[in-house]
Amino acid sequence: MHYPNLFQAFSLKGIQIKNRIVLAPMYTGWYQEDGVPSEWMVELYARRARALVGISVVECAAVNESAKGSPCMLRTDQDRFIPELARLARAIDKNGSVPILQVYHAGRYGLGERPKAPSAEPFLKSKAGYVTPEALAEKEIECIVQEFAAGAKRAIDAGFAGIEIHGATGYLIVQFLSPRMNKRLDAYGGPLENRARFYLEVVRSIRDAIGKGPVLGCRFMPTEWTDGGFGLGEAKTLAKWLEACGVDYLSCNAGTYESWARTEIKRIIAKPGYQVDVVHEVKKAVNLPVFTNGRFVVPDLAERVLDEGKADAVALARPLFADPEYAIKAFEGRGGDIVTCKGDGLCTRQVQQGKWAVCSQWKEPPWGLCSKR
Ligand SMILES: Cc1cc2nc3c(=O)[nH]c(=O)nc-3n(C[C@H](O)[C@H](O)[C@H](O)COP(=O)(O)O)c2cc1C
Repeated sequence: MHYPNLFQAFSLKGIQIKNRIVLAPMYTGWYQEDGVPSEWMVELYARRARALVGISVVECAAVNESAKGSPCMLRTDQDRFIPELARLARAIDKNGSVPILQVYHAGRYGLGERPKAPSAEPFLKSKAGYVTPEALAEKEIECIVQEFAAGAKRAIDAGFAGIEIHGATGYLIVQFLSPRMNKRLDAYGGPLENRARFYLEVVRSIRDAIGKGPVLGCRFMPTEWTDGGFGLGEAKTLAKWLEACGVDYLSCNAGTYESWARTEIKRIIAKPGYQVDVVHEVKKAVNLPVFTNGRFVVPDLAERVLDEGKADAVALARPLFADPEYAIKAFEGRGGDIVTCKGDGLCTRQVQQGKWAVCSQWKEPPWGLCSKR
């Protein structure tokens, strides 16, 4: 065994997880139509599960129509989407990985001219210019909390073993947490306990809806990496509150779209393992499994970080997109054969242009994918 820590089993909420490799959620745009994954998408999840990924977190699913950040996404807001979710859960489960669905609301990154957000703060959405979102009324906030809960219940009914709440990347939950984006004067703005209120309400309502059994994790932002934003100090306090609310794991991802665009942060995020130290700080604050993330392009680095006790598992997005067989190659001692993510941003650019994600490292695009799009 070349990677004893990486391939050490662990228990999550009574579920035996066969190793420490987690598929981090990654929106690919591989949809047949809104809410309907393509055959290719189902096969990609199946393929990575077959290739030994321990936990497979399926990319962000919108909790309502205005939660969508792209025209075609997974959806949890109507019963008619349950069979579509079930196709993914089954493909992962029957191939030996644990399926978890990520639920999300894009907030100000939603479609349309006036997306909803905690506050009407203008922001640079894209090269096309600034957008000023509309501030959510308290009644609307209550409604979104209920939509998260109902969506999570549908996902569990579809066969997912658990739910991951998207509390990172700059979407609605982060928009509440960040003092830069949240200027509210009511119970949802001001001190951390108010900015975290929406997040904790979502956690509690999902737990009520799905019951004690299923896994409930959070995609967790250890720092916004922006001046005047949500920082590591507040993140450590929040991590403890989430633990007290019954969250089962934290899967970290530092930064937001805005911070990643800054020159000094661009330099940081280009490095393999760039988040290990901030994630380690979060881990020290709680007694939950904490997953680290960020350009684990080779398993040797993942093994070292686990060996040093800086995280409990490693969540990989682009490395498992570049090479769906990453985990099995590491397990079989064929780490040198892994097709490594170059970090050139092609996958991201594709989805930002409304196209299917592809990888520049694919010599032969899988299943004739590129000719499809
Ligand atoms: C194209 C693309 C789509 C992504 N979609 C999601 C998503 O749906 N949910 C999420 O929490 N993170 C998403 N991420 C972030 C990844 O999960 C991950 O945190 C980030 O890419 C850094 O890890 P990596 O180096 O292993 O890719 C996405 C990243 C990329 C490149």
